[in-house]
Amino acid sequence: MENRRMNETFEPTLIAFCCKYCAYAAADLAGSMRLNYPSNVKITQVPCTGRVDIIHLLKALEDGADGVYVAGCMEGDCHFVSGNLKAKQRVAYVKKTLSEIGIEPERIDMFNLSSAMGPRFAEIAIEMTERIRKIGPSPIAATADRDNRQAKEGKP
Ligand code: FES
Repeated sequence: MENRRMNETFEPTLIAFCCKYCAYAAADLAGSMRLNYPSNVKITQVPCTGRVDIIHLLKALEDGADGVYVAGCMEGDCHFVSGNLKAKQRVAYVKKTLSEIGIEPERIDMFNLSSAMGPRFAEIAIEMTERIRKIGPSPIAATADRDNRQAKEGKP
């Protein structure tokens, strides 16, 4: 991971949890409009951002993502009433937790958009990729890599 930090061509990996009613549809729209956004962003469709739990956010970081974001319906427009508000609270909790352990809280964020906001979807993907590129590789992924290697080698 340290090599990735020193490598000037560091390309971050981002996971975007996108609600199927808004952000995922906006991603589709961005595609139909032929808007470019970085391939660094891997989209995971969710039925509502309320289904994204704290463990999913942390696991994405542990599994190698350098940045994670949740993109849900506009406040007041969630098809499950308050899923996006729950997601907002969970993202805030993870930000606080990361900050407490010395990891940049900017690695995680929440956005709200409608299905008609294809250009905004592309903008967010660009903005988040640039942000994480500036911050650098996630130390969580490096630690998880090392622990996995040690486990395979039978080291405690
Ligand atoms: Fe889109 Fe809940 S249905 S965030």
